[in-house]
Amino acid sequence: MTQDNREKLNKEILADLYFEHAVRFVINKLGDVHGKVIFDSGCGVGKMSVFFALQGATVIGIDKDRSRLSAASSLANSLGVQSSCLFLHGSSEECPIESDSIDIIFSKSTIQYMERDKALNEYVRILKQGGSMALLENLPYNPFIILYRIHRKLTAIKQKKTEYADSIKGYIKTNDIDRLSPCFRFVEQREYHLLRMNFMYLLKKLHFSASAHQLDNLISKIDTSLLTSIPFLRKLAWLVAVYYEDKQCNAMDVLHEERTRSIGQYIAKAKVTWSPLYLIKAIYLLILQRRLIEVMYGLYDYICFSPSVVTLRMISMDAL
Ligand SMILES: C[S@@+](CC[C@H](N)C(=O)[O-])C[C@H]1O[C@@H](n2cnc3c(N)ncnc32)[C@H](O)[C@@H]1O
Repeated sequence: MTQDNREKLNKEILADLYFEHAVRFVINKLGDVHGKVIFDSGCGVGKMSVFFALQGATVIGIDKDRSRLSAASSLANSLGVQSSCLFLHGSSEECPIESDSIDIIFSKSTIQYMERDKALNEYVRILKQGGSMALLENLPYNPFIILYRIHRKLTAIKQKKTEYADSIKGYIKTNDIDRLSPCFRFVEQREYHLLRMNFMYLLKKLHFSASAHQLDNLISKIDTSLLTSIPFLRKLAWLVAVYYEDKQCNAMDVLHEERTRSIGQYIAKAKVTWSPLYLIKAIYLLILQRRLIEVMYGLYDYICFSPSVVTLRMISMDAL
């Protein structure tokens, strides 16, 4: 029974429709985790925590959601690794964990629900010198996903959906990833899914038939070749996996740097405060730098991540 459950868990993780390649990349990079202490940030129902525990690691999973944590404990129990797993209720923004005590930080699809500077600072604080960190996160700028997220935000009417849409604080950006890099000796990054998610939907609709799989494989190959041959497109991927190896610096000074406001942020800020100063700065930068794309991103950030999109939502509800 345990063996069956173990195989089922491996399959769920290693054949996951969305994260399969990203997870495999990171697992491969992490290598042998036996004897290591792993921090699973936003562990959810604990699949990755238990997966690592089964390979001999000691895992500390943290999550804000108590019901997910109890599911995680049950999973660990069912696979006999409860003594290697500690599931904590709390926030990754303020980890109840000593500095320099963790060998590996692991985070899968969680950063968007957190104040990312706080969480990333905490990751580096609790990580030992020489430790590694693996982030598998959702990126903000895939055009198809942007449309989906705007649609999700504007049409969220039921409380559960509204709460979910409002819980997203903003996706990790490439400059967040880059700002962490100086803390580590070695960094490797891969991006996934440019067009493919559109076909994943089709794949589900066609009940994973053989021909749907063939089409999916073809689109995957096209995505991979586009992402490897045209660097600009990487920013537009849906998922990113970043492997940071060998932590070198202690304090996360890099993340304390004053961020230069992008024009998108000026626009978003101007929209919130209606301050003429921000509007003037935004227009000035727009003319000077012709960074129209940043303006679009700013508006998108505003629509998708501002909990105050009440008016827009009301308009969309009227339209329904
Ligand atoms: C999309 S789920 C991912 C779960 C898990 N990492 C996985 O890949 O299966 C995001 C998880 O992050 C948790 N979460 C959100 N904000 C958090 C925070 N500030 N601290 C810890 N966990 C948080 C949620 O409760 C949820 O379980």
